[in-house]
Amino acid sequence: MRPISQLARLAKLARPSRLEQAEALDRVVAPSQRVARRLRPGPVRDALNGVWLGHPLHPVLAQAPVGAWLSAAVLDATGGSAGRSAAGEAERRRLVAFGLAAAAAAALAGTADWSEQHEQQMRVGVVHAAANVTAAGFYGASLLTRRPAASRALRLAGLAAVTAGGLLGGHISFRLSGGANQAESVPHLVEPGWHDLMPAGGLTDGQPVKAMLGEVPVVVIRDGRAVHALAGRCSHLSGPLFDGELDEGRLTCPWHGSAFRITDGSVARGPATAPQPVFSTRVRDGVIQVCLPDAG
Ligand code: FES
Repeated sequence: MRPISQLARLAKLARPSRLEQAEALDRVVAPSQRVARRLRPGPVRDALNGVWLGHPLHPVLAQAPVGAWLSAAVLDATGGSAGRSAAGEAERRRLVAFGLAAAAAAALAGTADWSEQHEQQMRVGVVHAAANVTAAGFYGASLLTRRPAASRALRLAGLAAVTAGGLLGGHISFRLSGGANQAESVPHLVEPGWHDLMPAGGLTDGQPVKAMLGEVPVVVIRDGRAVHALAGRCSHLSGPLFDGELDEGRLTCPWHGSAFRITDGSVARGPATAPQPVFSTRVRDGVIQVCLPDAG
């Protein structure tokens, strides 16, 4: 019973929700973030974040190594005597090598996302990365050994480690909403049609202002004669866009520097990948009215 209860205790300690609060991990997070941020905002970083795709690139790339390594495991388990042949072993080694190359690309994209997240997400993220690096180590070692039995054992250990990494990745994505579109709820919270928002006289040219539409924060900007209104919380991680800066028609979030075009809400710079909901605006009797085209 003892080893089982100790295992249960270990599993409890390693719960992702505990990792979120493990401040000791900050000793790894802070220096790693400084290194990751050496890749400055720009086209390469945007490409790794998945701005061009409209959602994070990392989970798409991660399918390749997991798929290759899982295929090798299936062949290990079901290959039978033919699978134990030199040709079968060579096939599995090719899958492992392809997985390692693909994992490097997935890690690069994941690092770009990770470096601009909340601290709880980043703490779980470093353990997720450590599990995946461990997996890559096992798979790399499986290529180096010439003994098929040892190679199989190392592949099995790699699969266990990458599975643990995948579980933590799921926790970051679904429990902590890392990478999710934080503005997705806005059209569901706004009633269809036109709504009074604020007096038209309360705006200074180029100065973002916060207004509330029911419970939904809206950022309102006068740009010359035009009035623009966007959802006030950033699609990346809900940063306050009404505290952002406007420059050449782009509103920059104060938290991680995502920039959105105020005319259509599209992403001009990541790490945000989802566009910001944009309201139609008009002025009636000195009042700014807004309408969200896809509300309801
Ligand atoms: S919350 Fe991260 S860029 Fe806005």
